[in-house]
Amino acid sequence: LDYEVILLAAGQGKRMGASRNKILLHLIGKPVISYSLQTFLNDPACKHIILVTQEDEQQLLATMVKKETKRNQCPVTIVSGGCERQYSVYNGLKRLLNPENIVMVHDGARPFVTLAQLKSLHRKVVKTRAAILGVPVKDTIKRVVDGIVQETVPRETLWQIQTPQAFYGTDLLAVHEQAKQEEYLGTDDASLIEKYSNLAVSMVLGSYENIKLTTPEDMLTGEAIVKRKRS
Ligand code: CTP
Ligand code: MG
Repeated sequence: LDYEVILLAAGQGKRMGASRNKILLHLIGKPVISYSLQTFLNDPACKHIILVTQEDEQQLLATMVKKETKRNQCPVTIVSGGCERQYSVYNGLKRLLNPENIVMVHDGARPFVTLAQLKSLHRKVVKTRAAILGVPVKDTIKRVVDGIVQETVPRETLWQIQTPQAFYGTDLLAVHEQAKQEEYLGTDDASLIEKYSNLAVSMVLGSYENIKLTTPEDMLTGEAIVKRKRS
């Protein structure tokens, strides 16, 4: 079973505080977005990459994609994003080759997802219809209101959620349409499945290295991860 991927790059990268969108920043010799783009291009099960971008970065990204893809690799469609991540995903969903396909949604700001993780996520979604990557929380988590600790949340059941997240296109389209109608914004795609469908979302163990580059110090961590992978 093949899949299509929506690769998100249409954010602003405000928290990174750089002069340009963080997915275009260079991380040891290549732009952040190239890492995950290459990983999906190298997955034989990936049949279509829908790259969601800002309008004024489309030219640049189209040139980059052209340079990076080889003749026999899967097609890349460039699509305009929306003002919220959720709307960017929705714009991507409308461009699926076939909504009956499995679709993965991935943050372009997560360069370090591996082929092995894509494989285990894919295996799971085929069995359960909805599956996401994540890792158990390591820190102690407390609920704090107005600077005062209310409680310590039992950690055993807490996971940090990552991307990719994998679903069937028809299921994800349906919940996105419902959310749009109600003007509900979820923080990830699985939360829409949880809210608007009866599907159970399966957890797949990712890696603590599958970080999202969000603030400047994440770039340093990112450099260390690239170097470790190369050595
Ligand atoms: N994204 C998107 N469209 C949006 C907002 C975000 O495609 N309207 C993408 C980003 O490009 C990123 C991913 O969603 O790859 C995760 O979002 P986030 O880390 O929040 O990135 P930004 O929104 O760009 O960063 P910030 O919130 O700091 O501005
Ligand atoms: Mg954001």
